[in-house]
Amino acid sequence: MKPYEIILLAGILGLSPYTFADSNSNKKPGVEPVTNKLYLEECGACHFAYQPGLLPERSWRKMFSSLDDHFGDNAELDSRAHDELLNYVVSESADKSSRKRSRKISKSLSSKDVPLRITEDGYLKKEHRELSKKMVEGNPKVGSLSRCEACHTRAAEGLYSERYISIPGYGRWEDD
Ligand code: HEC
Ligand code: HEC
Repeated sequence: MKPYEIILLAGILGLSPYTFADSNSNKKPGVEPVTNKLYLEECGACHFAYQPGLLPERSWRKMFSSLDDHFGDNAELDSRAHDELLNYVVSESADKSSRKRSRKISKSLSSKDVPLRITEDGYLKKEHRELSKKMVEGNPKVGSLSRCEACHTRAAEGLYSERYISIPGYGRWEDD
């Protein structure tokens, strides 16, 4: 097909160039998916293996400096694993990533903020402000906002856009 024929066809089907751009950007991971096997094993043992692109470098450095007291749990690693995983999270941290959501997370934080939780500061806190307690803490199938994968059905692929959100007991999220 020639370019003008595609435009013509899109016109007949009622599709605007915006439709294409929008659906493409929603299908691209907003955050770089985790590829490091050791990370998936060690940091996915107790909870969802949060993508490094969800926090800035300074947050990861702080978290890795006290893994023996990690939110009340001991998540200590041997020194080889510690170094490998610290390198990994730093190199893929929000401030180093060009992925869309990582950029937004990075930009929303002042350089003095060193959040250890992903959803407590900046952009992600704002994104979740419309959720009620009943949908999260009071929802037996969710329990906490930390359980990204409970609502973001393709979280493991770094896909957080609205088309892949379904809240247990509530269904698909329609923003209006
Ligand atoms: C022994 C279990 C355990 C292991 C292993 C573990 N964590 Fe955690 N992690 C926790 C607990 C418990 C919390 C707090 C969860 C809560 O309050 O809902 C947590 C919370 C987090 C949070 C904050 C999530 C939020 O609420 O925004 C991050 C980020 C995190 N862990 C990263 C890691 C990384 C990186 C590793 C690997 C080095 C790791 N965790 C290994 C138990 C663990
Ligand atoms: C209780 C369900 C639930 C949990 C748990 C949850 N989210 Fe969300 N998230 C949502 C909903 C609903 C929206 C859309 C909010 C809106 O549009 O007003 C959203 C929006 C987002 C967005 C913005 C997407 C966009 O296209 O604008 C990102 C990124 C995101 N969440 C990441 C996370 C991460 C990372 C976690 C885990 C630390 C998490 N979420 C946990 C329900 C949840």
